[in-house]
Amino acid sequence: MTSREALLSLGVLVSGRGTNLQAILDACEKGEIPARVKVVISNRPKALALERARAKGVPAFCVNPSSYGKWPECRSAYEKKLVEILRSYGVELLVLAGYDRLVGTDILEAFPMRVINIHPALLPSFPGLNAQKQAFDYGVKVAGATVFFVDPSVDGGPIILQEACKVEEDDTVETLSQRILEIEHRILPRAIALIAQGRVRVDGRKVRILSPTASE
Ligand code: GRF
Repeated sequence: MTSREALLSLGVLVSGRGTNLQAILDACEKGEIPARVKVVISNRPKALALERARAKGVPAFCVNPSSYGKWPECRSAYEKKLVEILRSYGVELLVLAGYDRLVGTDILEAFPMRVINIHPALLPSFPGLNAQKQAFDYGVKVAGATVFFVDPSVDGGPIILQEACKVEEDDTVETLSQRILEIEHRILPRAIALIAQGRVRVDGRKVRILSPTASE
């Protein structure tokens, strides 16, 4: 990272233990990515991710969708609240890091092509829940993780980065999931860094990664 690079302001949506959030916070702190986490929002009050954020001095809130009515009817009111908070912190890129809700039009229109997600499978295979188990039960020989731009589809937006790992003969869902998680912790911060450096160009379904000099 060079000193003339401005820091990209991140908002992170979470729901659970927050190891991907931790990877982002650590990478920002070490100066490995020209970004900083401005705010973290969870839809679940007990998410460990909220504590991880606060431990780094990052503002962290729970916005409980049930305070806005029944899901999915309340989605628009709930997302409008999220957008209000994210805007108040000047968020430029929204990162879904283990966020367990589908994102709707209120967020996508507020942050066009500025919402990214991490998925624990090599998309377009095994979208949706329990992706590692889906892949393991299917009997794949290669698994992995994907970072992609969120669009209205379920895990179907343009792919930014993927990394694969071999499925070993003695793997269980748990050991495979752990190896995939380590990949997630590498490629999510890397994707954020590329976007922050202006090295990501989207052309329809294709995402081009520019060489470091090409974006200057
Ligand atoms: C990760 O496997 C992520 O790919 C999926 O949910 C999990 C979240 O883990 N969407 P964590 O909360 O970041 O530890």
